Amino acid sequence: MGNSIYSMIVGTGVGIPSRILTNKDFEKMVDTSDAWIKERTGIEERHIVEEGRYTSDLCAEAGLNALTDARLKPEDVDLIIVATVTGDVGFPSTACIVQEKMGAINAAAFDIAAACSGFLYGLSMGNAMIATEQAKTVLVIGGETLSRVTDYSDRGTCVLFGDGAGAAVLRPAEGNRGILGTYLKSDGRFGHLLHIPGLGTRYLPSHDTLDNHMHFIKMEGREVFKQAVMAMGDAAETILNRTGLTGDDVDLLIPHQANLRIIDATAKRVKIPPERVFVNVERYGNTSAASIPIAMDEARRGGKLQDGQTALLVAFGSGFTWASALVRF
Ligand code: UT7
Repeated sequence: MGNSIYSMIVGTGVGIPSRILTNKDFEKMVDTSDAWIKERTGIEERHIVEEGRYTSDLCAEAGLNALTDARLKPEDVDLIIVATVTGDVGFPSTACIVQEKMGAINAAAFDIAAACSGFLYGLSMGNAMIATEQAKTVLVIGGETLSRVTDYSDRGTCVLFGDGAGAAVLRPAEGNRGILGTYLKSDGRFGHLLHIPGLGTRYLPSHDTLDNHMHFIKMEGREVFKQAVMAMGDAAETILNRTGLTGDDVDLLIPHQANLRIIDATAKRVKIPPERVFVNVERYGNTSAASIPIAMDEARRGGKLQDGQTALLVAFGSGFTWASALVRF
């Protein structure tokens, strides 16, 4: 991979549902406690989509906010990439539904399914489309409504997940700002450790699939945790090595927000001190593909990520998939 810069992020935005579930609410639903959830994950509350709103609604809201931030209009967009594993329907793609909701009439649109790494897969794809001059204005959106596929009788998973969407607008790079590099990796041998067995064509909906909760997320938490620590560390280290940078060059680490302990381990691996690590897992829980773009938008709007500064984005998710990107804003 060369060191050319092809595209830059010119706007970000989010779509966050207003409904909130706190740890205390979960104490009434399953055998858990606020103290356990905080200590083991760092999560305090998460947003849950309102009845009648779907992944596409959150994504369209995030996309429109990102375009406003970039001072562009929906008609300016020529590619929409939506990263999600909780699309509205079997098909068409959520990206096409989002296109319609946004009025982005000039865009091509497609989905990427890489779970929690999806936004970085999308960012890498958008960057490549601009590099090869197949697109000029790309909207990359990560959006999920994990609450729709969460088993609220399983304490090992239900306390972890939240809903939301985040988006970034990519345009051809100017000067030395932009995406300095991306790194994508997968290992399909581990798919069964974090998955939804139903909802595809292998097991069609039946009394059995419903009775066995096969339409819900299943996770071997401890195993996933171990792999996540290793993979997030690998992703962070590899992209720094490839771009010839070190942790000292990173102004802000924006890791996937699944668990505070995984975030801490990732930061340590590349020697980035806590004051340069962005964390909002306490307010959102794990929003899968939405977590990095939501965090990135908050960091920018909160003044923690300013123009000229470099962010290291790192993700890990079902597949397994993992990914990283270095971005100079
Ligand atoms: O987004 C992509 C990837 N996802 C992740 O990165 C998630 C990775 N995994 C994790 O974050 C952690 O493994 C969890 C937070 C899910 C679990 O934490 P842990 O420290 O690995 O706990 P554990 O699974 O080893 O369970 C320890 C104990 C068990 O009880 P016993 O067997 O020791 O009696 C669990 O049954 O904690 C129990 N437990 C709970 N207790 C209270 C599990 N969930 C809960 C709960 N409240 N919500």
